[in-house]
Amino acid sequence: MTDILKPNPVAGDMEWFVHDRFGMFIHWGTYALAARHEWVKNHERMDDAAYRKYFTYFDPDLYDPAAWARAARKAGMKYVVLTTKHHEGFCLWDSAYTDYKVTNTPYGKDALLPFVDAFRAEGLKVGFYYSLIDWHHPDFPIDGIHPLRDHPDAVEMNKSRDIGKYREYLHNQVRELLTDFGKIDILWFDFSYPTNEHRGMRGKGHEDWGSDELLTMIRELQPGIIVNNRLNLPADRADIHTPEQYQPTEWVKVDGKRVYWETCQTFSGSWGYYRDEMTWKSPEQLIRMLVNSVSCGGNLLMNVGPTARGAFDDRACKALQVYEHWMRLHSRSIYGCTQSEFDAPADCRFTQNGKRLYLHIFAWPFRAIHLPGFAGKVDYAQLLNDASEVLMKETEEDVHANMVETTGCGTLTLELPVTKPDVTVPVVELFLK
Ligand code: GLC
Repeated sequence: MTDILKPNPVAGDMEWFVHDRFGMFIHWGTYALAARHEWVKNHERMDDAAYRKYFTYFDPDLYDPAAWARAARKAGMKYVVLTTKHHEGFCLWDSAYTDYKVTNTPYGKDALLPFVDAFRAEGLKVGFYYSLIDWHHPDFPIDGIHPLRDHPDAVEMNKSRDIGKYREYLHNQVRELLTDFGKIDILWFDFSYPTNEHRGMRGKGHEDWGSDELLTMIRELQPGIIVNNRLNLPADRADIHTPEQYQPTEWVKVDGKRVYWETCQTFSGSWGYYRDEMTWKSPEQLIRMLVNSVSCGGNLLMNVGPTARGAFDDRACKALQVYEHWMRLHSRSIYGCTQSEFDAPADCRFTQNGKRLYLHIFAWPFRAIHLPGFAGKVDYAQLLNDASEVLMKETEEDVHANMVETTGCGTLTLELPVTKPDVTVPVVELFLK
């Protein structure tokens, strides 16, 4: 890749990140009991008393982080990002700064240390998601996305809420997370909304969080850690940019410059476990999301929302198996790969790793794929799933007449079997000369 195409250097260690490409996001908290979206407290405008039942009954008796880690590793995921605290404010570790934590639920044990150990044991890198927003902390001022936003006394209640105290809490917790759990590879903050306004109550941004100081502390505690872009600081202070539930179709740019990026996606629309949600993505959609991300120089962070028993439900297991089966045969077109220097033909995506070019075929054609301009460039071609040779033919002229004319090069035709190989997305591996 020429330098102009590369993102500017950042503070975080990006080498493993751009190699590994595929991670697991996990959203798990007391909202798993409600099982109707991790924003349920906000959606249903619940106060702390109404929401308390999910804390009172939090008892994930099937929680086995080793099983989660194994499923992630088998799916081909190389890193994990877990919600240590989501917007609800509940902490999955034994924080010294709050009582609203897992050790005080019927479960009664720390959930984070065993998690970190289990994922490291499977060889995955470990990231922490930490919600800047906190709908439980008594000093967090009510704003337009707070569950109490429409409470008649909200404005009055804010008079006794001190963002300075909340900021201190946030910094203390982040220090704890980056001190007590060994090397942490990613810190994933969520999120800032400085321009939001509701009944005169304003949203929150870098001044509220003390983002500048916070980031300095983070870099001191964990050099090399990758920090995302949701602290409301200038774009170049972030290591990765994080388009959410949307699939970029080209390399993500900020101020006209390519950046390191990772899209986060769900199996079914919500992040937390949602029993009645039916919009589960098809196997094709799941694999294409991964391929599309890498073909545009990015990563995919795919989410699982475990149940309140502490397990992945059958639908999530099936979705993970889709990745497992495909990655077993095709991980070579993902790991270490990035956007290709070549444009892919219709219904296809390229990824590239040096002299190996991977043609992902989204719609299986009849017998042939033509690659204008490729004559003389490819030494050997094979289907990746079984390393069976793909015969090639070079034509001087015409398959795609105008391309041939404009490039002055011939077309390479790949001769494909009539029947699509029995894999979700077939890949042809092209060895460039
Ligand atoms: C949004 C949501 C949140 C989710 C996150 C993941 O910002 O607030 O529920 O954790 O997206 O990117």
